[in-house]
Amino acid sequence: MLNIRIEKTTTPKELPSKDNPLRFGTIFTDHMFIMNYDEGKGWHDARIVPYQPLNLEPSAMVFHYGQEMFEGLKAYKTEDGRTLLFRPDKNIERANRSNQRLCIPEIDPDDFMDALKAIVEMDEAWIPTKEGTSLYIRPFVIATDPFLGVRPSSSYLFIIILSPVGAYYPEGLDPVKIWVEDEYVRAVKGGIGAVKTGGNYVASMKSQVKAHDEGYSQVLWLDGVHRKYIEEVGAMNIFFKIDGTIVTPELSGSILPGVTRASVLELCKEWGLPVKEERISIDEIYEAHKKGHLEEVFGTGTAAVISPVGQLRWDKHIMTIQGGGIGPISQKLYDTITGIQLGRIKDIHNWTVEVK
Ligand code: COI
Repeated sequence: MLNIRIEKTTTPKELPSKDNPLRFGTIFTDHMFIMNYDEGKGWHDARIVPYQPLNLEPSAMVFHYGQEMFEGLKAYKTEDGRTLLFRPDKNIERANRSNQRLCIPEIDPDDFMDALKAIVEMDEAWIPTKEGTSLYIRPFVIATDPFLGVRPSSSYLFIIILSPVGAYYPEGLDPVKIWVEDEYVRAVKGGIGAVKTGGNYVASMKSQVKAHDEGYSQVLWLDGVHRKYIEEVGAMNIFFKIDGTIVTPELSGSILPGVTRASVLELCKEWGLPVKEERISIDEIYEAHKKGHLEEVFGTGTAAVISPVGQLRWDKHIMTIQGGGIGPISQKLYDTITGIQLGRIKDIHNWTVEVK
């Protein structure tokens, strides 16, 4: 059991009101978890303290070379008052795979789980209960050595902050419009596209700004070599239903292995739907659309859950899907996953972990 020192806030903030729409990632709870790493000492000094600014040297390596890892998962309050985390073990495994790739020391998975449970339990009054809301959990590690040479840092901070959230997109469960990017690229095999780190997200911003200006919510990335094969949406993995078959890009090494992606694949297989994880090109999607075979498109992610896509724009082609509405599989997946997360549907997969 991780030994966590606790310092409670003496000035608790006001909880958001029940009708606050909770825009994604704008409100933070009263406390945060912190643990230090120093070479020779390992991870040490785990503590929960009031949510507060960090005191870092301007020369801290994270500011210069971006050595940082982050994760995203959610906590939910069930109708009978239990607090549930959704597949936290998967986030912990992925965090340590990211840490390995980014030369950040790994965190003991049991300590990570103890830290998650402790900080969520501390601020559980902040878990919102309105339909479509949850407590978003953002664990991250930053490199703190005050040094301008390029090498892995020898000191780090592991921090967990919490934010009560509503839907990631202002559209909620209404379908989003997505721009297929064929000029900029996000990642290439052998790079860091498969790990969760800020660099992948800053790589996406130029293109996202362009897409926003054109009235699109997000960008769908194509592979960095051929600019042809579908990758992911940046904040989500992407799925297509083509002529009855659920298709998603295979984990190529340059896309993020999403926890919701894995859950959707398992559910679709259990429901007897034909499922393919394979390389699929934007031309194939366009052809399927022209023939009337592109039945549904949806994104999956922790923040976004299931996000139906009503329109894809690729070059001059505009593909409208499901008449711009939500398809039956997208709706069923959303209802099932949120039902399990909220304890309304029996969790036969043991995906939820109770806090306490
Ligand atoms: C998540 O779904 O948790 C993510 O990390 C996406 C994020 C960029 C909001």
